[in-house]
Amino acid sequence: MGIGSGKSTLLNIIGCIDRPTLGSYYLNGKDVSRMNQVTLARLRNSCFGFVVQQFALIDDYNTYQNVKVPLDYTRISRREKKKRIEEMICRLGIEDKKNKLPSELSGGQSQRVAIARALVK
Ligand SMILES: Nc1ncnc2c1ncn2[C@@H]1O[C@H](COP(=O)(O)OP(=O)(O)O)[C@@H](O)[C@H]1O
Ligand SMILES: [Mg+2]
Repeated sequence: MGIGSGKSTLLNIIGCIDRPTLGSYYLNGKDVSRMNQVTLARLRNSCFGFVVQQFALIDDYNTYQNVKVPLDYTRISRREKKKRIEEMICRLGIEDKKNKLPSELSGGQSQRVAIARALVK
């Protein structure tokens, strides 16, 4: 799909960051346009993981800390968090980058960190 064809708009609507001006979007059978901000925030946190083109990693967090971010706002135990982060970092093949800052990673490595962060929940 080409520039300006609506890719970003569609993804923002699917991810509950934006709302359609026309038409409706049902998520698990529920009309998203009728949800309030609190419900939408909860959905964004629990249902979606985003990998944006520019990665949006936190510059002064290392790989481990960046992957951990989505889990900071959950009630998952400390032990379980650590297990999930380690597992995800391994699955993406970036174990050896665990303590590296984004500035020390290549584009592809940064993308893996962003993917690990999107999937960790
Ligand atoms: N379904 C749609 N109907 C009307 N306008 C749209 C629709 N989807 C996107 N737009 C508008 O088209 C423009 C480009 O959309 P955008 O999502 O940024 O495209 P892309 O990411 O594919 O380059 C924006 O101004 C957006 O508001
Ligand atoms: Mg776009």
